[in-house]
Amino acid sequence: MGLSPVWRLRRPAVAPGQASDGPDPQERGEATRDGVISSLGWDALKSRVANCTDCKLRAGCTQTVFGVGGERAQWMLIGEAPGADEDRLGEPFVGQAGKLLDNMLAAIGLRRGENAYIANVLKCRPPGNRNPEPDEVAACSPYLRRQIAVIQPKLILALGRFAVQTLLETDASIGSLRGRTHSYAGVPLVVTYHPAYLLRNPPDKAKAWADLRFAMQTVASLG
Ligand code: URA
Repeated sequence: MGLSPVWRLRRPAVAPGQASDGPDPQERGEATRDGVISSLGWDALKSRVANCTDCKLRAGCTQTVFGVGGERAQWMLIGEAPGADEDRLGEPFVGQAGKLLDNMLAAIGLRRGENAYIANVLKCRPPGNRNPEPDEVAACSPYLRRQIAVIQPKLILALGRFAVQTLLETDASIGSLRGRTHSYAGVPLVVTYHPAYLLRNPPDKAKAWADLRFAMQTVASLG
């Protein structure tokens, strides 16, 4: 999936024949949105996300959902977007799928808020839990990239088709991507099924367990 830099679309249009305001902001030495976000410290990033209105989602959600966990977590788990429970409580994966995720983490000796950081590709709930749209992903991606850059996890576990396909910029199925190490923003990334999918398809929990073991081996091999 191509992640179009939508913020560029918001630059004032220049009418034909009218003098343009010059080259790219970067070439003019101005700070770009991505550039500004990529230099924020943790608290400033949190506050920027909390106040973000850069895509259409914020108008329809209760609050932004930044993420949960320690700034020094070795594992980072990334899902799709907040659902109704997360939108209400301001924390990712707090519904039924979240309970399963917590159990999966416990099975490999991890706990949310301690050695695992949990976040989503999108920080705002899409209305009616519809699929995120490309402009929303493009607007929100710099926040996730900065979270990863600050945390510097040893491993990212991408949860579910949307997160996997977005982070890896591919249309390939989870099945074809499992069992090997990929990379996102320079961090090793392992894919697995979304806990909500596993609730609907319990037999695939065995595959998710294999993915977790593979992820643990990957972390162990990194020293
Ligand atoms: N599904 C997700 O992908 N993320 C959440 O936070 C909750 C449900």
